[in-house]
Amino acid sequence: MRRYLNVAIFLVACVALLAQSAGAQEKAVDAEGHPWWQHAVFYEIYPRSFADSNNDGVGDLNGITSKLDYLKTLGVDAMWITPCFPSPQVDFGYDVSDYEALDPMYGTLADFDKLSAEAKKRNIRVILDFVVNHTSDQHKWFLDSKSSRASAHRDWYIWRDGKADGQPPNNWLSTFGLSAWKYDPTTKQYYYHYFYPEQPDLNWRNPAVEKAMFDTTRFWYKRGVSGFRLDAVDTLFEDPALKDNPIVPGKDKFGRPNMDEKYNKKLPEVHTALKGLRKVADEYNAVLIGETWTSDVSQLKEYYGDHNDELQLPMDLLLNGLPFSAGTYRKHVQAMDSAGGWPVYVITNHDITRSYTRYADGRHNDEIAKLMAAFYLTLRGTAIMYYGEELGMENNDPKSRDDVQDPVGKLSWPADKGRDGERTPMQWTDGKNAGFTEGKPWLPVPPSARTHNVATEEKDPHSILETYRSLLALRHHQPALIEGDYDSLNNDDANVLAYLRSYKNESILVVLNFSNKTQETKLDVPAAGYISLLSSGAKLGPDGYKTIFLEPFGFYLARLRK
Ligand code: GLC
Repeated sequence: MRRYLNVAIFLVACVALLAQSAGAQEKAVDAEGHPWWQHAVFYEIYPRSFADSNNDGVGDLNGITSKLDYLKTLGVDAMWITPCFPSPQVDFGYDVSDYEALDPMYGTLADFDKLSAEAKKRNIRVILDFVVNHTSDQHKWFLDSKSSRASAHRDWYIWRDGKADGQPPNNWLSTFGLSAWKYDPTTKQYYYHYFYPEQPDLNWRNPAVEKAMFDTTRFWYKRGVSGFRLDAVDTLFEDPALKDNPIVPGKDKFGRPNMDEKYNKKLPEVHTALKGLRKVADEYNAVLIGETWTSDVSQLKEYYGDHNDELQLPMDLLLNGLPFSAGTYRKHVQAMDSAGGWPVYVITNHDITRSYTRYADGRHNDEIAKLMAAFYLTLRGTAIMYYGEELGMENNDPKSRDDVQDPVGKLSWPADKGRDGERTPMQWTDGKNAGFTEGKPWLPVPPSARTHNVATEEKDPHSILETYRSLLALRHHQPALIEGDYDSLNNDDANVLAYLRSYKNESILVVLNFSNKTQETKLDVPAAGYISLLSSGAKLGPDGYKTIFLEPFGFYLARLRK
């Protein structure tokens, strides 16, 4: 059976899309009352790795500006740039030493303004990453805080005496492999850091900290940013009595006993801080996206706030961890869809193994990447992509401990090789360093860049990139994909996930084969007419869309008229 894409229909969608984007900046709310961020596809850019304009081996803001047309053609509506502020780069920018400037490595404020203006011309919004839980140990607030017990910023961080025997104040552990307390000989106290010791936790119980952080968001809103991705929100507060966390069975990747982080994570006060950040965001009609790691959908739901007054977009970081199967996905989407909030789907980011590698079976890797795109980009909700996902970029883990850049990778080697593998340079061409830089890239490009890159994939209508482009064009053009209700079909099918997205007098039908076998799916869905929109490895029976033959990991999308 020949794999095909319905190119003619796709072209119609593209023309409509171009007509639409030639107009004024998208309205804040559509006819159905949906704000722009519910329609949007966000695209995460790791600035070190996206495009290097000055050939020093590290990406920069001018590099991003030079690729805006690429983003426009891809069809994204907003870019989230991970931290580009001044930083000693211990955690590659997640250790911020000044929230209201840019790291010279990435450019100047003037470069940022240019990027912002050029993005605006293309109707692409800019979202920055706000590291709310901690600063760098080189931030002027911390330098003052550690200088003396009486300093003006002493209480901006969490300082405590050690125990009588000189041990840290309690048993809390840093998620990056050490104790969560570091002793400072100058003032003879310990300070708390959930992440690296170079990332001291701010004391959000201090109103001065709260005010400074709220003001930081104002600084950037006034400069035109449309919102923030809030980093590590569940770590903002700690139990003031510093109770020991209970030890639970098992060991973590560093070989330490597991603990239930009940006294230093997800404290109820987090919600008060989020409400405060949201109030400021509302003054500027801005959006807050949350890095919300949760154990289930009901926990995730809490981040919207009881009165929808916290995060508009708490990320669903559960989906990426689920076993790849029609059954688990059906159950999860149903739970997300009925939870009452606006879902935010993510399959990969800068902290987890790239989706291409995670889902690959060694034989149908590209087909699986296209299938996952056809799945999560057709759900009711906002989608957040990660650069290179649209090319099928694979993880490129370091080959030896000496090659590791991410400190956590050194600490947990070899059990865990750290996060370098998912942060390698964007693959623009099949040439030197994948067209990312003329210099030495800060991380190596994998051999697969020769086949999986923008220039090569643009020439192939069946490529992963062209499939993403088609899907994003459909998302813009088909109202049912934006506004439509989600209804699951064929609920007993263990291999094929099928659903309708219905709006007014039409539905988009989505049929996805999550198995490595050819599947025949019969659908009992009446329609006055249908039109095939996009497919990969799909063939229809004599009764049209009512019988669909799907190759391993094939998919089929159609528009049905009621
Ligand atoms: C978040 C970021 C991660 C960073 C950590 C500490 O989890 O996504 O990259 O290391 O916060 O800021």
